Amino acid sequence: GDQPELDLKKYIREIPDFPKPGILFYDISTLIRNADAWQIATARLTRAIAPWQPDLLAGIESRGFLTAAPVAMRLGCGFIMLRKPGKLPGKTISLKYGLEYGHDELHIQADAIKPGQRVVVLDDLLATGGTLAASIKLLQNVGAEVVGTSVLVELDGLGGRDKLDVPLHSLLTYP
Ligand code: PRP
Ligand code: MG
Repeated sequence: GDQPELDLKKYIREIPDFPKPGILFYDISTLIRNADAWQIATARLTRAIAPWQPDLLAGIESRGFLTAAPVAMRLGCGFIMLRKPGKLPGKTISLKYGLEYGHDELHIQADAIKPGQRVVVLDDLLATGGTLAASIKLLQNVGAEVVGTSVLVELDGLGGRDKLDVPLHSLLTYP
């Protein structure tokens, strides 16, 4: 069960200058290594997502897998992986997206979704929104109806939310 008074931000460690000088890194390792905090975070995400009635949850490699898989179990949904290049067997569909420097690419198995299936995408964190926006587009390209997205941590002020054309739920928000 939940403990409504529990502030999950206490379990997220803030590490300055990682991975680069000037970046404040929100480290979820300290949350997921605490059994109670991890249970409660998962339960709260599940409660927020359930009304969207997804058929499938999609997790984004790699920290998004940690967020999405336990929620899929609780909802009784299947789980699909959005992965970096060269990891998924069989035919895949991919999408390149821009980063601050260079680009990255996500793949999905071509047969992962039946047309019109309701999918919710989860990731650990929203910053610029590039990763989540690309994930939504990739899922739509293979015929999914993306009914919502959810993150454990939203960094407000980078405009990430505005890049998404589906509803976003976030558990914890930082300026
Ligand atoms: C981090 C984080 C999100 C993404 C958010 O992943 O886990 O997926 O960046 O940034 P954005 O909103 O600016 O796109 P990263 O690519 O560092 O890889 P990881 O999940 O494998 O650690
Ligand atoms: Mg990630």
